Amino acid sequence: MTRLSVNLNKIALIRNSRGSNYPDLVEVAKDCERFGAQGVTVHPRPDERHCKFSDLQPLKNIVTTELNIEGFPNDHFMQEIIKVKPHQCTLVPDDPTQMTSDHGWDTVTHFDFLKERINELKKNGIRVSLFIDPVAKLIEGVAKTGADRIEYYTGPYAKNYSSDPTAAIREIKETCEIAISNGLGINAGHDLNLENLKYLKENLPRLDEVSIGHALICDAIYLGLENTIRLYRNRLQ
Ligand code: PXP
Repeated sequence: MTRLSVNLNKIALIRNSRGSNYPDLVEVAKDCERFGAQGVTVHPRPDERHCKFSDLQPLKNIVTTELNIEGFPNDHFMQEIIKVKPHQCTLVPDDPTQMTSDHGWDTVTHFDFLKERINELKKNGIRVSLFIDPVAKLIEGVAKTGADRIEYYTGPYAKNYSSDPTAAIREIKETCEIAISNGLGINAGHDLNLENLKYLKENLPRLDEVSIGHALICDAIYLGLENTIRLYRNRLQ
């Protein structure tokens, strides 16, 4: 089974634009689960322009599926994550000024840093996933850090999918065996949508989870949140 985790950063962005608590992230998270989401994801960035660090504990208190928190593991992020203890933490190599995540970790250069941060999270009972590009030596590096899963950065897959799906999936397909043989679970995320999700799933039968935000929330404007979550779940059957 591939779980659908709904990323609520866009909902937080709308909320923040008016300074009130509407839409309420907690209520939207509960509704996503009621409509079939199998997880909730948030990505608090240092400037808190989307989800805020103060959103994390209220979400942890109500999420009954899985809470996945993404972010760059600086000292502040680590403290907050260890306080909240989400089910999963996805480490992302974002620089504070980045608009959105656009590459995975260099697990060779940053090996010692990652190993230390992952060890700290795992001591606290948190499953750890590393955001990664589909490159063999980087995935081999993940296995040595002690992380539990990889999350494929699917931006390039999504960009190339419409012109050449076979070429778009090639590197992901070729490297997933390395992850599996090293005992790593496989997640995927970024720019996934109703058009490209089914093909990703068909080519990655061992896909554990996708986290989807932007396209899903945009689709919900036209189709409604309940219907949209149902359609994304259908693509993962
Ligand atoms: N995975 C990571 C690590 C991300 O940073 C994001 C965006 O916050 C996503 C997945 C979801 O991407 P999208 O919003 O394009 O679905």
